[in-house]
This record gives sequence, C-alpha cells and structure tokens, in this order.
Amino acid sequence: MYYDIFPRIRERRLRRTQKIRDLVAEVSLNKSNLIQPIFVYPGENGIEEIKSMPGIYRMTIDRSLKFIGEGLASGINAYLLFGIPSHKDEMGTEAYDEEGIIPRAVRAIKKEYPDAIVITDVCMCEYTSHGHCGIIVDGKVDNDVTLSYLAKTAVVYAKAGADIVAPSSMMDGQVKAIREALDENNFKETIIMSYSSKFASSLYGPFREAADSKPQFGDRKSYQMDYRSARTALREIELDIKEGADIVMVKPAMFYMDIISKAKEKFLVPIAVYSVSGEYSMIKATAEKGWIDEDQVLLEYMLSLKRAGADMIITYYARRLADLIR
Ligand code: PBG
Ligand code: ZN
Repeated sequence: MYYDIFPRIRERRLRRTQKIRDLVAEVSLNKSNLIQPIFVYPGENGIEEIKSMPGIYRMTIDRSLKFIGEGLASGINAYLLFGIPSHKDEMGTEAYDEEGIIPRAVRAIKKEYPDAIVITDVCMCEYTSHGHCGIIVDGKVDNDVTLSYLAKTAVVYAKAGADIVAPSSMMDGQVKAIREALDENNFKETIIMSYSSKFASSLYGPFREAADSKPQFGDRKSYQMDYRSARTALREIELDIKEGADIVMVKPAMFYMDIISKAKEKFLVPIAVYSVSGEYSMIKATAEKGWIDEDQVLLEYMLSLKRAGADMIITYYARRLADLIR
C-alpha cells in the first residue's frame, strides 16, 4: 500500500533545509516560559556550590539579587525560591515566620525588581528538624494538621509579595486550604501553582543535599505518588483544579512524559513541568565526562518536554538556556 504512493509522497521534502525545517516545526522554546529555581540562605555575601549540582549555588539574599538581576537582563523572568533556614525545628517555624528567609528574600527581590515573577515553594521539609513535608503527630505526617500550617505559610509569602505560591507537600486538600486562606486575607490575585502530580522519585537526591531536607526517618511514599500509577496522577491534577489551582505541575519531568502528555489532553489549565535536580545532575555529569554534548542534549530535552505538552518548564538550566536560545 505504501509502495503504491511512493515516490509521490516523500517525507524528506520537509527536511531539506534548516529554514524549511524551522517552518514546519511544531514547538519552540521561549525564555518567557522558563523558571529558574534558586536556593537562598541567611547571611551576607555568601555563595556555595552544591556538590552534586555543579554550576548551581546556594546564595545569600544579596547574592541572589545579583543573580536575578543578571537573569532578568538575559530574559529569564521567573524565579522559584527555596529557603534554607537558620534553624530547623519540629514545627518548621521558620517556614511561616515573617522574618524567615523566604519572606525576607521575597521583599528584597520585589523591592529591587518589581517585575520579576517570584514563586515560592510552600512546604515544610526544608524547615522541619525531621525533614518531612508536614507536621508529625504520633510518628506520622498528619494531613489535616499540616493544612493550616501550609495555609499560614502561603499567606505570609503572599504578604511579602510573592506572585505565585507553589504548594509541594502533597497533602490532600492543600490547594483548597491555601486558596481559602489567601482569599480571606485579601490576596485574591495571588496565583497558585500546585505541585499536583509529584512522584516519590529518587531524582530529588541532589536537591535534598542542597536544601538539607532529607527525611530523618522513613521516606515520603505515604504522601508523594507511587510511580507505577499514571491514573493517580490524573486524579490528583483533577482535584487540584477543582480546589482552585491556577497552574498544575508534573514532577519530575524526565521519565514522566506520559503524564505530561495525558494531562495536556485532559485538562485546560496551564501545565508546568519540573525538570528536577537529579535530571540536572545526570546531564551535567555525563557532559563533564565528555560523553554527550550538554547544550545539544539540553535543547533536545527541553523541546521534547514542549512537544509532550509542557507550557512552562522549571529547570536549573534556565539561565544557561537563556544564552542558548538567543
Ligand atoms: C519540597 C520540594 C522538593 C523538591 C521541590 N520541592 C524535595 C522533595 O520533595 O524531597 C525537589 C526538587 C528537585 O529535586 O529539584 N517538597
Ligand atoms: Zn516537602
């Protein structure tokens, strides 16, 4: 059958020159869709490279401002903030302290760069001594007790000036609790980008080194999702949309492109994907060995995420991509 039409139909016609290939390309990469995560810690003029993520640093607020300033100049508008607190305790107090690391960083960034899009992760694990994403009651992460702490945290970040809050603890009902608290406190414009579909992945290792947030006992499998099920991920996304999420997220991105593509078909809200720390480290390490071409692999990967359905991409490579895209 195929041979009947050959050679009238020749797929190679559309691949003949670069300009023709560009003409028929279905996806492209825009700097305006990229989000750069950053790790902020207390102090002054401090910068420390994260061992398992060469080229990525933890920075004090003043250094972050410089980094963001340069980023904005190169076209990266959005920053996802993670805080490393000066002290951790059972209740993760510094997460929702108005003088904690994140509210202070947000105020400083918005003062200097009002147009920068500031996104704050809303979770407990960077702030709790036990490293879990919620409040522990009787040895377990208590869902409903945690909700009020997450809501309080989101309000504190919104008050500091965050444009977007991003709940990542995977507690049931977290989006509803946060939306209600934001509205009650008159932060009706604050956007919620929910980590709706967050898997219990081994790819978060380097992040936990960076944020010093490894759980001190057990693991996160009773709240983050089991990677053997795609349908759970779709249910989680659906629930978050019903609860009021403006943007939903799939995380990690690599290994989860089936979820991205199904979510894109099924739902009509913008979809963010998080290319996580372990993905960065894998590409970086292989490139450092000289086994792959870092920039080419990066472009291929990012465009594949777009093809799968990503509207926004959170990536530690955002700044590097800014230079590549131009
Ligand atoms: C907090 C949070 C984590 C990541 C983003 N938000 C860590 C975790 O769940 O252990 C991971 C991001 C990455 O690996 O780049 N819950
Ligand atoms: Zn967490």
